[in-house]
This record gives sequence, structure tokens and C-alpha cells, in this order.
Amino acid sequence: MPRSLCQITDFTAKEIQEIFDLCKKMKSGEIAPKPLADKSVACIFAKESLRTRISFEVGISELGGTPIYVTGGEIKLGQRETVSDAAQVLSRYVGLIMIRTFEQSDVEELAKYASVPIVNGLTDLVHPCQILGDYFTMTEHLEKKERYKVAYVGDGNNITTSWLNLASLIPIDFRIGTAEDCHPDAEIMEKAKSNPNSKILVTSDPKEACADADVIYTDVWASMGQKHLKEEKESKLQKYQLNSSLLEVANSKAIVMHCLPAERGKEITEEVMDGPQSVVFDEAENRLHIQKAIMAYLLQ
Ligand code: CP
Ligand code: NVA
Repeated sequence: MPRSLCQITDFTAKEIQEIFDLCKKMKSGEIAPKPLADKSVACIFAKESLRTRISFEVGISELGGTPIYVTGGEIKLGQRETVSDAAQVLSRYVGLIMIRTFEQSDVEELAKYASVPIVNGLTDLVHPCQILGDYFTMTEHLEKKERYKVAYVGDGNNITTSWLNLASLIPIDFRIGTAEDCHPDAEIMEKAKSNPNSKILVTSDPKEACADADVIYTDVWASMGQKHLKEEKESKLQKYQLNSSLLEVANSKAIVMHCLPAERGKEITEEVMDGPQSVVFDEAENRLHIQKAIMAYLLQ
């Protein structure tokens, strides 16, 4: 079975460091591998996207390959035919499969039956490329530290779980400020807590989460596929808005992160998003670089 990225814990801490090293060299232009030369990549999107679609398509081209965009509605994975049949068929045509969908189990099933690497471009459970890219962005902006203090305020969603997955592998002091019934996946949380080098805190007090933090991160209150819960989530998460009074309790050199797309004025204020501590567009740029490194690493 080839290596795939279904979630961050598919890699070891050492492999993640190797991907960051590769990313740095590829971003600077020191090396420009073409592992996808003469190959195509299926990019399956069952949900909407701006960053993931464009950064993968550009990245695939820069690695020498040809991206093929397919909508979820067109292939109807698991409905028109089994995920395992689709995995085996696609493996006869393409050198890698990138998928954004709802169920994590569909991504794992594809990886089980495909003979080419699978890269998860977001599921309801996790968004691994985003958080690998975000950690890389952090290292570009912050002084080197044994264990960064990362505060996440808002809904305990696929971004939160991906941070927890990373914290289960590398030392992170990860604080989640969220409402009682918006906690992230319990199993992923327990796994993160079992890493003795990380610290995990879940609190209903956003200021406790952000105290002296190096990073304050937020994401939309209602994720894709959950937009029917928008009003309910908004009322529960109002007090977790990333605004200037929350930023005041963080380290004075703290950076502000958001995976985007943002709902300005909801989970993050305009002032903070456009303020001097915000690195949100660097994060978006680094999606391109980290995904190129991930694909090159999986194909080596
Ligand atoms: N951050 C992110 O994945 O953005 P898109 O949903 O636009 O791809
Ligand atoms: N949590 C968000 C992330 C978007 C990149 C969602 O799943 O919609």
C-alpha cells in the first residue's frame, strides 16, 4: 500500500520535520522536483473550495503533473459504485488522488484500496494539509521555541482536531476556548493528551485559552455541511470572537491565524484580520508550498 495522508497521524514526528525541510527548500527554489512528470492527479471535490482547489492545481502543475478536477456529484463515490472499486479504477489512470469530502471513512477506504497515494483535502473530521501548512507558517514568523502556545477559539471542528493530531506528535501547548457542546472529537483529544510533551486545555473562558499565547487561531463557527446550524452556533460561540480585547491577553508578539474563508465580523473582527499581527494570507500561500512538499514526499 503506498503512503497516503488521510490525517496528520499517518506521519511520525520525524517525517513531519522532513516534510517541513522539503517545503522550505522547495519554497525557496533551492530544489524543484518534478515527481508528477507525465502523470495526472484526480482532484475530487464533494464540497466547495477556493484555496484547496487552486493551490493543488497550481502545485500539481509545478510538480510536472496535470490536475483533473472532478466534483463529488459527478462520481458519486460509494453510491454509483463502491469506494474500493473507484479507488482501483482511478489508480489505473492517475499518479495521486486528492479528495475533499464529508466522511473521513471514505478517504481511509480510498487509501486502503488505491495503489497510488491519497491526500485528504478536508473532511468533516480533519483538514491535515491546512494545519501542516499553518505550523510551517508559524515557524516562519515566530522565534524558535521548544513548545509553542497555540490558542484556538471557536467551534471544535476539523481544524481543531487537526491541531490536536499535530499535538499528539510534536510538543504543543494547545488551548481550546469553546462552548460546552462544541468540543472537538473526543478520541482525537485523548490521543493528543497522551503525548507527555504536549499540554492540552479545553476551557469555556476564551481569555484563559489565549493568555500569553504565541498564536491565536480561529475558524468559521459553522463549517461546510453544517450551515443549517449557523444561527445556533453563532449564539453559542459569540463570546469566542477573535477581537482586539482577546488579542490583548496574548503574547505581545502573537500572530493571528485563520484557515479562511472567514466570516468577517463574526468569528474574527475586520480590525484583527487586517491588523499587523495577522498572517492569514501567508497561511493561504503556504498551502501551495506544503502540499507540493507533501505530494513530493509521498511520491518519493
Ligand atoms: N482553507 C481552505 O481549505 O480553504 P478552501 O475551503 O477555500 O479550500
Ligand atoms: N472548518 C471549515 C474549514 C474550511 C477550510 C469547514 O470545514 O468548512
